[in-house]
Amino acid sequence: MKIIRKVSQMQKIALKYFQDGDEAGLVPTMGALHEGHVSLIDKSVRNDDITIVSIFVNPTQFGLNEDYLKYPRPFEKDVAICKKNHVDYIFAPSVNEMFPAAHKTFIEVKQMQDVLCGSFRKGHFRGVATVVAKLFNITFAERAYFGMKDFQQLKIIERMAKDLNFRTKIVPCPVVREKSGLALSSRNSYLSQKEKNDAVQISKILKEAKKNFSKNNVSAVLKDAIKKLNKISGSKIDYAEILDANTLSRADKASRNFIFAVAVWVGKTRLIDNVVL
Ligand code: PAJ
Repeated sequence: MKIIRKVSQMQKIALKYFQDGDEAGLVPTMGALHEGHVSLIDKSVRNDDITIVSIFVNPTQFGLNEDYLKYPRPFEKDVAICKKNHVDYIFAPSVNEMFPAAHKTFIEVKQMQDVLCGSFRKGHFRGVATVVAKLFNITFAERAYFGMKDFQQLKIIERMAKDLNFRTKIVPCPVVREKSGLALSSRNSYLSQKEKNDAVQISKILKEAKKNFSKNNVSAVLKDAIKKLNKISGSKIDYAEILDANTLSRADKASRNFIFAVAVWVGKTRLIDNVVL
């Protein structure tokens, strides 16, 4: 396994495997790897000739008062996890390498970027879409793996890849959860044991909503779930919404797939989770 720091070096390697006819899989991450990330890596290792994991805490997707500085960066541990799971290349550039002072170009995926997390984290998905587009161009990936844990991110990247004619195919991967149901997240490390126990309720409430959901009782299911989410100790809801899973717009008669997505603060930690209904 090789660790690559420079865009030019990664592109040189990428051009070589591309010309050799080897197909590369890309797993974009911000590090602090856990079993959720490993499930994406595993899928790439099975599907692709070459697996690249990018580790880059992307400043352009964090708001001013967000956790960019305190975001966990256990790089050596991440390297060991990648090695153990048969990754071929880690691409871990510096901020200056990805976003030098002269950088001026950003990608916006209209509407989809403004709902759910986007309405609370202004500019977040602009930063995500831009860094992911750059990673596609740097790695020449045949496939790129994204978790459904970040459902809105996945849908935005799918839209961007279609709209901008990227040849990279987007592979959605299911949410990996703890036995308790809590969705794995690098940010779970911010939770105390007590908060973690409280946070488990979120996935339970989503699961119950899925069980009770039918096309005709959207608002009743939502109301019941919101009531329960508010009862979690130390919780504050940013949003809890049932939307059309394909467009992320309001569900209507034509909707076939529905997504119930929530962002809930438990103490000082903001957690997101969702379930496809
Ligand atoms: P990060 O939060 O590190 O997540 C990297 C990838 O792992 C994302 O596709 C995310 O959906 C997936 N993932 C995280 N937790 C998961 C879980 N419990 N089950 C399944 N997949 C999970 O998402 C980002 O980084 C960044 O926004 C990035 C796309 C790298 C752009 O900077």
